[in-house]
Amino acid sequence: MIQGEGFGKVILFGEHFVVHGLPAIALGLSNKSIIRIEESKENEIITKFPVIQTLSISAIQAVEDAVGVKEKFKVYFEGDLPVTGGLGSSAAFCVALAKALSKKYSKNFNNEEINKIANEGEKVFHGNPSGIDSAVATYGGAIEYKRNQGFKQIKIGKPIFLVVGITGKNSPTKIMIEKVQEFKNKNSEEFEKIKNEYQEIFEEGKNAIEEGKIEIIGELMNKNQKLLKKVGVSDEINDKLIEKFLQLGAIGAKLTGGGGGGCCIALAENEEKAKEILEKIYPFKGFVTKVD
Ligand code: MEV
Repeated sequence: MIQGEGFGKVILFGEHFVVHGLPAIALGLSNKSIIRIEESKENEIITKFPVIQTLSISAIQAVEDAVGVKEKFKVYFEGDLPVTGGLGSSAAFCVALAKALSKKYSKNFNNEEINKIANEGEKVFHGNPSGIDSAVATYGGAIEYKRNQGFKQIKIGKPIFLVVGITGKNSPTKIMIEKVQEFKNKNSEEFEKIKNEYQEIFEEGKNAIEEGKIEIIGELMNKNQKLLKKVGVSDEINDKLIEKFLQLGAIGAKLTGGGGGGCCIALAENEEKAKEILEKIYPFKGFVTKVD
């Protein structure tokens, strides 16, 4: 069977603000979504993951349309990227499918084309995606991303050890994007202030990443989390997990991705500490990831 793959991601700074034109920083995970395709009479999705069938089938159709194929497929969805919200699994799914279709029809799409095609599927999942998730799912690595300007790879001064914690509550990113839009509509002046505060976090954060200043990255993650809370995307369960991370000695912690549940990340000073935090986050589950 023909196969394609897409990377998962965490957003270190700037989820939601990136939808509104500000720059964000995302880190590719080694965890991947894998898609295998087989011709069929209808589009179908076959997976153990908790996906919304109708939505996934519409996304498959959108990717097929963007590639320009008329045939239908059984789409087997696997891989080691948890489908929990926040880790970019919908984008990884679309990228993996675009790559599989590219192979099937010998299109030899380059990464730029794959990214563009995958983003059509992402629109089905997210409504108004900034494009950051499809970009990391396609290219991996550490990137700075700005809507309509694309991405730049960024240099990492010192390895970053993160604990990714899974809240266990799924919440569609589309709804969280709409929630922030509502906040913006009702509180336009405050939203502008928050955006300015975030812009500073981004600039200091980018320098800290490049210079390997882990303590500063942590502090800025905490500040970013406060802003996410203000715009209403940090659910009680996110707050609980973040509090736990900080009590366990994380340098900084925040939600990552859409929020309203999904996942949170904690920054640890080294791998040992990250593993120690992970062991103690019960009842939550998660994993440790190193970005360098
Ligand atoms: C989702 O991983 C990140 C959001 O900023 C949405 C987007 O940028 O498309 C919440």
